[in-house]
Amino acid sequence: MSDHYTLITGASSGIGLALAKQYAINKHPLILVARSGDKLQEIAIEFEKKYHIPVAPITLDLTAPGAPKTLYNSTVAQGMTVQTVINNAGFATYGPFHQVELNRQLNLLDLNMRVLTEISHRFIPHLAGQAISRLVNVASTAGFMPGPTMATYYASKAYVLSLSEALAEEYRTTPLAVCCLCPGTTDTDFAKKANVGRARLFQGKLMTAEQVAAYAYIGIQHGDPVIIPCFMNKVSTWLPRFLPRNVISRLVAGANEQA
Ligand SMILES: NC(=O)c1ccc[n+]([C@@H]2O[C@H](COP(=O)([O-])OP(=O)(O)OC[C@H]3O[C@@H](n4cnc5c(N)ncnc54)[C@H](OP(=O)(O)O)[C@@H]3O)[C@@H](O)[C@H]2O)c1
Repeated sequence: MSDHYTLITGASSGIGLALAKQYAINKHPLILVARSGDKLQEIAIEFEKKYHIPVAPITLDLTAPGAPKTLYNSTVAQGMTVQTVINNAGFATYGPFHQVELNRQLNLLDLNMRVLTEISHRFIPHLAGQAISRLVNVASTAGFMPGPTMATYYASKAYVLSLSEALAEEYRTTPLAVCCLCPGTTDTDFAKKANVGRARLFQGKLMTAEQVAAYAYIGIQHGDPVIIPCFMNKVSTWLPRFLPRNVISRLVAGANEQA
C-alpha cells in the first residue's frame, strides 16, 4: 500500500507549519508547499529525522500561472496518494481600501480564493475515490463578518467559508469530509506581513499556531464542517447573528483601528 500523504499549502511558517508538525507527530507522510524552498527543505529534513515519515517539499508560488495544475501533476499524477489536502496559504492587506495597492489586493483574492478553489477542484476527484479523506480550507473568524480596512481579506474568507460549507454538504454522504478551519487572531508572521500588528485586534494574548493546529487536528479527524478554535472566537462568530450588520461593521472597524 502506498503512503497516504497530507498536503499542506503555506507550510513554511505559522499555522501551516504547526499543522505540518501536528500531522508529523501523528505519523502522516507530508507534502509541504510554499515559496520558501530553503525553509521547506530544512523542515523536511528535521521532520524525517524526528518523526520517521517521508516529507516531500514543493517550492511553488501558488499564484504563478498554472501552479495548482503543477501541484497536482507533481503529486497525484506521479502516483502519490493524497488523503488530506489543507488549503492554508493566504495573506492579508491592511489600510483604507483605495490606499492599499490594487495589485496586492488582487493577488490576495487570487491566492485566498481562486487558488484554493482550483486546488479543491483538481484534488476532489482523487480524494473522493478513497475510503476516507479530508479537504480542509483555512478561512478565519473574519469570514463571519465584514472587515473595514481589511475589506478584501474579510470578504475572501467569507468566500472560503461559504464555499467550504457548501462542499461539506455536497460530499456529506461520501467518505470525503470537507472542513473549514476558522482561527481567530493567532501569533504568526501574518500580522507583520500585513502591517496590521498594531491594530487593537492583535493586542493582548493571542492563540499560538501550535494551539490552533492541535485543536484543528481533532476537528479534522472528526470531519467537522466548521472548526473554530477557542470559546471567545466562537462567540465572535455568533455576534453577527444577533446584531444588525451595520453595527457589526462598526465594531470590527474599531477592532481593526491602531491601538
Ligand atoms: N494569523 C492569524 O491571525 C490568522 C487568523 C485567521 C486565519 N488565518 C489564516 O491562516 C492561514 C495561514 O496564515 P498564518 O497566520 O500562518 O500566516 P503566515 O505565517 O504568514 O503563513 C502564510 C503561509 O502561506 C505561504 N504563502 C504565502 N503566499 C504564498 C504563495 N503565493 N504561494 C505559496 N505559498 C504562499 C507562506 O510561505 P512563503 O512565504 O514561503 O510562500 C507561509 O507559509 C492564512 O490563510 C490566514 O489567512 C490567520
